[in-house]
Amino acid sequence: MAQHSLMARKSVQDIIRGGDGEAHRLTKSLGPWSITAMGIGAIIGAGIFVLTGTAAAQYAGPGIMLSFVLGGIACAFVGLCYAELAALIPISGSSYTYTYATLGELFAWIIGWDLILEYAMGAATVAVGWSGYVVSLLHNVGLDFPPEYAAAPGTVFKLASGVEVHGVANLPAAFIVLLLTVLLMFGTKESAKLNNVMVVIKLAVVLAFIGLGAFYVSSANWHPFIPDNTGEFGHYGASGILRGAAVVFFAFIGFDAVSTAAQEARNPQRDMPVGILGSLTICTLLYIAVAAVLTGLVPYTQLDVPDPIAKGVDAIGVGWFTLAIKLGAIAGLTTVILVLLYGQSRIFFTMSRDGLLPDLFSRVHPRLHTPYASQLMIGVVVAVVAAFTPIGILGEMVSIGTLFAFILVCGAVIYLRKSEANMHRPFRVPGAPWVPLAGIASCLLLMLGLPLVTWTRLGGWLLIGLAIYFFWGRAHSRLARKA
Ligand code: ALA
Repeated sequence: MAQHSLMARKSVQDIIRGGDGEAHRLTKSLGPWSITAMGIGAIIGAGIFVLTGTAAAQYAGPGIMLSFVLGGIACAFVGLCYAELAALIPISGSSYTYTYATLGELFAWIIGWDLILEYAMGAATVAVGWSGYVVSLLHNVGLDFPPEYAAAPGTVFKLASGVEVHGVANLPAAFIVLLLTVLLMFGTKESAKLNNVMVVIKLAVVLAFIGLGAFYVSSANWHPFIPDNTGEFGHYGASGILRGAAVVFFAFIGFDAVSTAAQEARNPQRDMPVGILGSLTICTLLYIAVAAVLTGLVPYTQLDVPDPIAKGVDAIGVGWFTLAIKLGAIAGLTTVILVLLYGQSRIFFTMSRDGLLPDLFSRVHPRLHTPYASQLMIGVVVAVVAAFTPIGILGEMVSIGTLFAFILVCGAVIYLRKSEANMHRPFRVPGAPWVPLAGIASCLLLMLGLPLVTWTRLGGWLLIGLAIYFFWGRAHSRLARKA
């Protein structure tokens, strides 16, 4: 076993055959609409409802529109790569699985570990955003939730009355995570149905914001379009657009979550590319439009608030619409948490089937056909993180972790085009290897836009993962045992 090579790879054929194991069969219940809705469900969330304002106010000004264009272009390159791989290897492990087939087990494990940042920590981050919007909506209808129970320990803030509040636990954030966990344990189809309804609500709200807001835009707010750089990297000017893109990149995360549903898609060869590219295109167009309307409604300097979209609505001056926006944001954030929790359990499912995680994570309920035990454990951990972690830094960790995974996925396309040149590819990235290379370059560029401390934290997180692999995963790896 000690001889087992760290670079041992699984062949694509083996991976696909392995995915068909009867004992672990998940139901193939998802069609192209549900899958596209799942993508939109995962994408539109805290990024657009919370971060757009901060990024415009602090980094890019009205040029935040260009940041969204940059982010959209980078994600389009990566989305094309995901589409090729998800159709070629329709297994729920997503980038973890693709890496297993290219760089081998050690890197696959690293990516699997890294994806916890994107999925589980992403879900916790968005749950905190959910809590903020719910508490604010409750306030609008005359119910005041005790603020110390809606903030993590270590968070200190002042109420309008001047009273200082010290956070105890973010209970609403934990509550929504646990509620969605129970739903996911009960069935993929049921969860997909709820997701579809919520996606319609959030799309309606976003479209209404764009449609209504466009009439109230004052083009004076768009000048200067790119405010002059303050002398510090990332504060306005061209570098501000880049920093803005790195921050709002969070808003695009999720299109790749579609690939974790590959084993539950009725026709993954067709539905994966449709779902990934369809959801990404729709969301990118909406984001650019929202950014344009928002910065046209409110001077960018005033947008550094937790609910910038609601602030935009205030500028329109239609009272009831503020409530509708908050409801839409809550629906939107709910679907993001739902899909990220779902995706995390499916990635663990695949890692467990490979022996890199305990069997518990791939146990499927005989009647519900869901990995119930894994889903429950993930839910409890994410709920605890959401309740007790000051979440400020997590958003950037989620982004850097995801960008890292994206780079390996683009690399995997180039590699497999050579190593498995003759396999039938239901979808092919046009212009390979240039498009995957452009994907790698743009992800690196966005990573450079993130602060150094985030890079250090990513390094620390990966080191913990490596330790687990060498102490546990390596000895239990199915590939190693076979060898
Ligand atoms: N894209 C997701 C969001 O913005 C993660 O909430």
